[in-house]
Amino acid sequence: MKSDLFLYGAPASGKSTLAKALGRALALPVIDLDEAIVQRIAMPIADYFQQQGEDAFRYVETDVLAGILEAPSAFRRVIALGGGTLLRQGNRELCQAHGTVFCLDTPDAQELSRRLAAGGKSRPLGNQAEARAQHYASFEHRITRWFELSDSLVLVGTGIAPDFIQTDRTVFDATVAKLYPQLAASPLDIIPSGEKNKTPETVMKLWHDFAQAGIGRTNTVVACGGGVTGDLTGFAAATWMRGIPWINIPTTLLSMIDASTGGKTGFNLPEGKNLAGAFHSPRLVVIDTEFLKTLPPRELRSGYGELIKHLIIGGKNAQMDFTAIPTAKTIADSLAVKVNIVRQDPKETLGKRILLNCGHTIGHAVESASNYTLSHGEAVAIGCVEEAKIAVEQGLAPENWPDELATSFQKAGLPTELPEGMTRDSLTERIRLDKKHANGTITYALPCNWGDVKAVKLHE
Ligand SMILES: NC(=O)c1ccc[n+]([C@@H]2O[C@H](COP(=O)([O-])OP(=O)(O)OC[C@H]3O[C@@H](n4cnc5c(N)ncnc54)[C@H](O)[C@@H]3O)[C@@H](O)[C@H]2O)c1
Ligand SMILES: [Zn+2]
Repeated sequence: MKSDLFLYGAPASGKSTLAKALGRALALPVIDLDEAIVQRIAMPIADYFQQQGEDAFRYVETDVLAGILEAPSAFRRVIALGGGTLLRQGNRELCQAHGTVFCLDTPDAQELSRRLAAGGKSRPLGNQAEARAQHYASFEHRITRWFELSDSLVLVGTGIAPDFIQTDRTVFDATVAKLYPQLAASPLDIIPSGEKNKTPETVMKLWHDFAQAGIGRTNTVVACGGGVTGDLTGFAAATWMRGIPWINIPTTLLSMIDASTGGKTGFNLPEGKNLAGAFHSPRLVVIDTEFLKTLPPRELRSGYGELIKHLIIGGKNAQMDFTAIPTAKTIADSLAVKVNIVRQDPKETLGKRILLNCGHTIGHAVESASNYTLSHGEAVAIGCVEEAKIAVEQGLAPENWPDELATSFQKAGLPTELPEGMTRDSLTERIRLDKKHANGTITYALPCNWGDVKAVKLHE
C-alpha cells in the first residue's frame, strides 16, 4: 500500500480545498486535521486558542494527528494539515514516516488577503506566511499552483510526480523510462519514443498489454512521458472497456503547457496527424518541473514556442528568460492561459478555443511542408511571425509588431523565417487541408499584439 499524501502550507494557502479535490480525483478518503481537532475539543479552534493558549492547542493537535495516523486504513489518505502543524519536529517526522508532505506555495499577498478576508474558517493566528517563510521553504515537495478544469485536477509543482506513479499501472515513454529507472522499475507498458510511433499499432499494443495486465473498469492507468505518450495512453484509456480513468504526468515542456490539459487524445494516420481520437480528460494531471532537467535543449526550445504563444494570447511578461528551465510558476502562468480558454469551451464547440490556434494555421503547414524536420515549437514560432505579418496587412497590428515578436522567439533560440523554398503561397494547399478551413475561407487566430489575438476569417 502506498503512503499517505499530506498537504501543508500557510493558513489560507488552500490545503483543505485542494485535499477535497485531490480526494475526488483519486477516489481516496480525505481527512482535515483542523476539522478532526474541532470534533475533539468541541469548540472553534480560535476559542480554544484564546482560552487555553497555543501550547495547549499544539498538544491536542499532536494527539489527534497521531490518532489518525495510527488508525489502520486500507487506503492511502489525503490529509490536510493545519498551517502550523509541522512546526513541531515530532509531527514533521511522524508525517514523513507515514507518507509524503506536499507544501503548497503561498499565494501572492493580494490573493492571500482576499482569502483571509473571505473567512469561512477560524484562523487564530491570521496569516503567518511571512513569519514562517523559512519553515515552509524547507519542504522539498512543492505544489506551486493547481487548477480544476472540466473533469481534471491539475497540479503544478516540483518533486511531486513520484507519489502518483504506480509503476505497474504506468505507461512510460521509452526515453523517460531509461532516464528515470527508479520510477519505471516494472512498468505496465513502454512506448517507443517519437512522433512516428503515434500510430494505431501502438494503441493496439497498449490494449493488448492492458488485457495482459488485467486492467479492469475500476483501474486507473497513468501516462508518463511527452505529448505522444499522453495522447496515446489517454486514447487507450478512453476506449478500454468503453473508458477508464487515467492520470497524465507530462515530462516535456510542450506537453506540460499544452498537451496535458484540454482532454484531447488520439493518434496519427498516414493521411494526417491526430485524425482519430476522443475527448477524455485525465482525472489528474501532475506537472513536475524536475523532469525538465533532462530535457534536450531542442525539446525545451520547442516548448518555449508554445509558451511564447500563450504570452501572446494572455499578455507578455517582458522579464522572462527564454533559455532557462522554466520555474513551476512560469509554467502555471502559461498553463492558466490555456485553462481559462478551455474552461469556456471544453469540447471546442463554441468557437472560443480558436484563440489557442494562434500561429498554428501557418505553423502546421510549415511543420508538414518541412517533412517534420522542424519541431512543432519551431514551426509555431515561424507561423506566429508570418501570421503577425498578415495581421499588419489586414490593418490589425502595428508595423513593427512582427519584428518585435520575432525578437522574442529568437531569444528562445527559435527560427522566425520561412525555410528556403517555402513561401506563404507554396503553403496554401496545406493550409486548406487544415481543420479550420470552410467554404473558401480560412479562420486564423491572428497575433495582433501582446494580449491581443483576433479570430479572423480570410478568403483563400
Ligand atoms: N492533446 C493535446 O491537446 C495536444 C496538444 C499539443 C500537442 N499534442 C501532441 O503532443 C505531441 C508533441 O509532444 P512532445 O513535444 O512532448 O513530444 P514527445 O512525446 O514526442 O516528446 C519529445 C521527445 O522528448 C523525449 N522526452 C520526453 N520527456 C523527456 C524528459 N523528461 N527528458 C528527456 N527526454 C524526454 C521523448 O522521448 C521524445 O523523444 C504531438 O504528438 C502533438 O500532436 C497534443
Ligand atoms: Zn501547438
